[in-house]
Formats: sequence, C-alpha cells, structure tokens
Amino acid sequence: MCGIVGYKGKNEACDILIEALKRLEYRGYDSAGIALWNEGRIAIERKKGKVDDLKKIVYNNDSFKGKMGLAHTRWATHGTPSERNAHPHKADDVVVVHNGIIENYIELKTKLKDEGHKFLSDTDTEVIPHLITNHLRKGMNFIDAVRATLKELKGSYALGIIKETEKTLIAAKKESPLIVGVGEGEYFIASDVPAIINRTNRFIFLEDNDVAIFKDGTLLLINVDGKEVQRKVHEVYWTEAMAEKGGYKHFMLKEIFEQPRAISDTLIGRIKEEKGLVEFEELKLPDISKMKKIWMIACGTSYHACIIGKHMFEANLRIPVETDIASEFRYRDPILGKNDMLILVSQSGETADTIAAMKEGKKRGAYTLSVCNVLGSTLAREADGVIFTHAGPEIGVASTKAFTTQISVLFMLMLHIGKKLGKMQSDEIRNSIGEIKKIPHKIQTILDMSNVIEELARKYMGFKDFLYLGRGINYPTVQEGALKLKEISYIHAEAYAAGEMKHGPIALIDENLPVVFVSPNDHTYKKTCGNMEEVITRRGRILLFTDDNSHEMASRVDNLFILPKTIYELQPILSVVPLQLLAYYIANFLGTDVDQPRNLAKSVTVE
Ligand code: F6R
Repeated sequence: MCGIVGYKGKNEACDILIEALKRLEYRGYDSAGIALWNEGRIAIERKKGKVDDLKKIVYNNDSFKGKMGLAHTRWATHGTPSERNAHPHKADDVVVVHNGIIENYIELKTKLKDEGHKFLSDTDTEVIPHLITNHLRKGMNFIDAVRATLKELKGSYALGIIKETEKTLIAAKKESPLIVGVGEGEYFIASDVPAIINRTNRFIFLEDNDVAIFKDGTLLLINVDGKEVQRKVHEVYWTEAMAEKGGYKHFMLKEIFEQPRAISDTLIGRIKEEKGLVEFEELKLPDISKMKKIWMIACGTSYHACIIGKHMFEANLRIPVETDIASEFRYRDPILGKNDMLILVSQSGETADTIAAMKEGKKRGAYTLSVCNVLGSTLAREADGVIFTHAGPEIGVASTKAFTTQISVLFMLMLHIGKKLGKMQSDEIRNSIGEIKKIPHKIQTILDMSNVIEELARKYMGFKDFLYLGRGINYPTVQEGALKLKEISYIHAEAYAAGEMKHGPIALIDENLPVVFVSPNDHTYKKTCGNMEEVITRRGRILLFTDDNSHEMASRVDNLFILPKTIYELQPILSVVPLQLLAYYIANFLGTDVDQPRNLAKSVTVE
C-alpha cells in the first residue's frame, strides 16, 4: 500500500513533505523515510514506526534542507518493518520511493547481484535504483535510464526518483495511484489528493505508463517510450478542512458525525423530487432493457454495501443481482457477458482486487460501472461509467461515511434504473426520494444520542467476543458492525444471519457473549424476536437496535436503542450508525490506535 510524496519548487521541502506524509500515514505506518536534495547532495533519514518519529530527527537537523525531495510511509509487503527496509532506497547517487509491488524482483535482484550490485534491504523496491544506475553507467541520461528501467519492471509502481547530480525529479506510475499537484511555480507528487490539498486544489491524475519530469520549474509528461502525452489539470472541490480532524479526537469520529452532510452532498443535484426522477450527470448507461444480470463486486465494507444493494435492487427491480468479494470473483471464472452490468463499489477506487474484477468484467464484455469516492482514482477513470459518492476525504482507516454514501448511491441508482425500465412509477420514486431526503436528519438524531452509545461501550468494553445478528437487509448491516468492532478494537466479533444461529453459533451463547441484534420492525422482526428468546433462555446478554419498542421483547433485552423509522431499503443507513459509534467508543476506551489500527492500511493496492 504505502504512501509517497515528492516536492520540487521554490520553498523548503522538508516541512511540506513531512506534513503530507502525516496525511498519507493511513496508507501504512510500518516505517517512514525522507530524502532531501541540496546542491548536489541528498540527505536521507529512515525510521521504523510512524512519521512523528522521523519528524523529531529531521526537524532538529540542518542537513535536511533543500527545495526538492521525496518521502515515504510504508505498509510492509516484502521485508519486515524495519529501518533497513524503510524507503527511500539508494544505489550510487540514485534515490527512490515506491508504492506497489515489483513482481519480478527476485530474478532482477539475482542478475544484479551477479553483476556485483550490493543490496542493503529485503525489499522488492531496491532493485529499481540499481537498475537505473546500471543504465547510467552505460552512458544513458537520467530520463532514459529511468524509462529503460521501467520497461524491465513487472508489477505495479508509483515512483519518485531523484539523483544527486541532477536538479530533476522524476515520477512514474503503473497500476498504483499517483497524482501531480500543480502549484504556483512548484509541483507536488502524492499518492492521493488529501495529502497535498492544503497546498493546491489543481491536480493531474497520472495514467499508467506516464512519466512526469519536473525540471527548471516546468513539467514534461511523457510515456515510457519517451513520447509526449497530454493530461488535463482538474480542479478538486475538497478543502483542507475536510482533511483535518476539526476538533474531533479521531478522524473516524469526525467521519461518523459527518454522515448527515456526506449523504446530503451525495444527493444534491441528482434527486428531482417534483419530477419523480433521479439523474446522474456523469452517467450514460447502455440499453438497460437488455441487461440480464447485475453484479455488485467489492471488498470489505464496500462489499457489505453491495449486499444491501442486492436486497434493494432485487426487491424493486426484479433483476437478479449477484454479489461477490472481488478477490473471489476474479479467480473463479464467473459466468458473465455483454448483457451483464458489473457495479464495482470502492471508497478509494484503488483496491487492487476490485480493479482486477473490473478488468475481468471488461474482458468478458460486461458494462462496468464504478461507485467511487475518489476523483481520478483508477476505478473512476477506467470503468465504463462512474458515480461518485460525495463523502469528502475519508481518512480514518475504518470506513464509515463512505459506506452510508455508497448505500445512498445504490438506492438512487435503483430508482434511476427502475424508472428507465418502467418498473417503478414516478409516484413511487417521489416517495422514495422523500424518504432518503429525511435520512440526514434522522442520522443526526442518532448522533445526538451518542452519549447513550458511549455508556453502552463503557459497559461492554471488557468482553472478549461479540456475536452480531440480523436478517434480510440488516444481515450485511451486522456484518459491517462486527467488522468495525474487530478492526479498531481487536475484539473478536462474528456476524451471522439471525436464522443461522441455531445451526451452530448458539453453542457459544452464555453470559460472557454479548449478542448485538439489529432488528427493525420489518417482515423479519417476529422471527428475529424468536432468536432473541433463544439467546435469553441461554443467559446471553442482548443489545437490541430496533425502531419498535412495542414488542414485549423490548422490555426483556439488556439494552435497547431505538432507531428512527424509515423504509426497508434505507434501514441499514440508520442502523449502522450506532454500531459504528459502539465500535469507536469501545476502541477509544481500550486505547487502541483508532485511525490507524494495527496491520491495516486504507487503500489495499496489493492482492
Ligand atoms: C473497513 C474498510 C475496508 C475497506 C476495503 C475496501 O473499515 O475500510 O474493509 O472497505 O478495504 O476498500 P475500498 O472501498 O477503498 O475499495
């Protein structure tokens, strides 16, 4: 995964790079490193652990001066988290930072070793500066040596490269994200927009095989063959404040509280209530009447949004929808063709498995549509169509506002397709629009009761295992609730379809296993109350999240949280919010690193 950043301009680079690196830390935090070019010398520092440890060293050191430099924060793939494996990597006077995986590094390394090159790390990256020096030694110039090296690499890379004897910074991209920030007489490179949004809002989204050369205050864009390419400069509406904590203790908490705004922004300009219409400006769907099947593919939290999408699409459109985890889909030879639509859901738009699933879909002639949060991301650029969730930058590693905006987009897409197919009438669509418009306010009423959830968290923080149960459209909701708890608090949490409980998990139930039920009063409610009965009989503790306190079960559970009412399709958006808060407060009480939980990274750009 890793985050890379680079700067070339008129200002001191050290501050700029460290600050940007902090914002990229969510992509990995096993080690951090920096390289600064100053009058023909490059000062390098690398440190195991977080950016703050690196900062302490370089801020008190006069060697770290210069107006050009690179920095890196690492999520270890090849080689343990350690100083020797931290980037930048250097050979002769060539210095490289890299995000991605060089698949053929073993054969390249063996060859280079045979030629006398000495390696200091276990990383795949280190072959890159060595290959460049090989070409330089044969008399190539810096740019040509980089291009020749890129041609030798198999795999993915976003690269920043500098050299002591050159006042030039070179960046290159293939299958890993890399953007160029365009400032006044200065340029930035970064793995994503929020890293440098405080410096500029003008960006170039590099494409695969692009090589960017920053020299003498200018930018030259070429491809690996040396041919000049043209790329548009985009203005991005995200602001610096959006990428900051704004008084909250953690980004995750801020992002949970931002959900009313994020959903409103996602609806704006798309819902036409009076006309009973939903329109997406950026979308030109093919002839939907020929569509035989819809697929919804994603990973993690985004996959849970897909299952919710399946429930709403099938119920209202009567089109078969198959959901799959992207890493499974891509390797299982799925049966799909040109009359299928593949909806790929991803916050980052950079998840390697989801991108591979899109490519598989395209190869087989399906129409691919991505639902993404990040402008210029690979899925946004490469799918046949794109709908953006306007959640704003999501920085906490645990996804929250991306999830509820993804559900909002899928709901609107269902209305859009329903109208096109004549499966939903204007009145019905108008009512549905009316319901989703009320969602931000309803979320706010839940957020206003966050203290209640905080108390629940205090009560339950000491338990070692949790079971989450729900049915129908709320089965993926509890899957999401359990995922949130385990990833940020490291407490074991399992989610089951409530009806499955008696087929195994019931054996776990006793007074040491809190059971979280999400069960609004829909067509599955009475059945789920039956499951609660079974838990109570076995002395299990129940936390019930429901919109109905009239059922006698409400008075028998250990803890009851009343949700606002909404239509079936939109229930998960409301019921997931207290689950997000529960996970957050438990993790906060336990003192874990909520925004950067161990072993995780925000964009999973490797398989
Ligand atoms: C969980 C979480 C992950 C992501 C998953 C997919 O809180 O954030 O499970 O949902 O890695 O990421 P995107 O949506 O960027 O494709």
